[in-house]
Amino acid sequence: MQRDFDKPTMVKIEKVIEETPTVRTLVFSDDVLSAVLPGQFAMVWIPGVNELPMSVMVYLEKGRAAFTIRKRGVASTSLYEVKVGEYIGVRGPYGNSFAIRQGNLLLVGGGTGLVPLMRLLTFLKKNDNVTVLIGSNTKKEVFFEKMANQILANNKHQVIVTTEDGSYGTAGVVTDVMEKLIFEKKFDAVYTCGPEKMMYKVVQLASSKKIFVQASLERMMKCGIGICGSCCIKEELVCHDGTVFDGKYLLSNKEFGYTHRNKSGIIENY
Ligand SMILES: Cc1cc2nc3c(=O)[nH]c(=O)nc-3n(C[C@H](O)[C@H](O)[C@H](O)COP(=O)(O)OP(=O)(O)OC[C@H]3O[C@@H](n4cnc5c(N)ncnc54)[C@H](O)[C@@H]3O)c2cc1C
Ligand code: FES
Repeated sequence: MQRDFDKPTMVKIEKVIEETPTVRTLVFSDDVLSAVLPGQFAMVWIPGVNELPMSVMVYLEKGRAAFTIRKRGVASTSLYEVKVGEYIGVRGPYGNSFAIRQGNLLLVGGGTGLVPLMRLLTFLKKNDNVTVLIGSNTKKEVFFEKMANQILANNKHQVIVTTEDGSYGTAGVVTDVMEKLIFEKKFDAVYTCGPEKMMYKVVQLASSKKIFVQASLERMMKCGIGICGSCCIKEELVCHDGTVFDGKYLLSNKEFGYTHRNKSGIIENY
């Protein structure tokens, strides 16, 4: 049967993985979402609650996909609490994807922003030399370090974790490590997803060294398909024209790193 991309398809949760005390991964079988491009997202319906945009997490078994959720407000907490055997609705995939370059690649992620970057890792070539920077506040909130090493097992690679409180890995923030790295080594491309202030710094740093850089943005989304306008950043719709944008465009957009719209469409500062 033909899949209707604009109506939710119900999927049964088959496995729940505790990543950290506030982050869980829900695994399900779905041929369409298991094959999405890195950067693409789905709209996830929690019956009776709400619908949320979620990056599609990679699961290293054919035909299976996942979502990795941090519990925040009512909707994300309801999704986080979905149990094995329960159903959620998914529609999509939507949005564009990262442009895959080759050579020395640097991926910089924080929190659930790591989700599209993990999928990107699975698209890289075996001869790419890959550096992954994972930023977290504290040790107990670090996740996907093992998965990044597992996906990159056949590549020349390093995974560097930073924690702001110094409880694990390098003390400090990912952008401090990135600043040092880009002066020591020549990178061919930088990819980032995470808190927008972090991405802003990443894009600035990469651009200062004239390195190709792309960032995957989050904005308030309702329709996910370019109709409602709630996800706009200036003239662009993040759900339709993004979520991935080139650094060159982002630095010319005065909203990037500074403002976003809340649920009422009112502009707020980061
Ligand atoms: C394309 C896209 C992909 C996404 N992928 C993921 C994903 O893989 N995993 C995931 O957990 N979430 C992801 N999100 C965010 C998710 O859609 C929700 O915005 C988030 O889960 C909060 O929803 P809520 O309704 O529970 O909280 P709300 O009621 O909207 O907010 C509750 C509190 O959390 C804060 N908050 C809301 N959103 C964020 C945020 N993004 N960062 C920091 N604080 C926030 C609010 O300021 C508020 O204080 C994605 C968003 C987009 C646009
Ligand atoms: S979420 Fe409706 S236009 Fe993007």
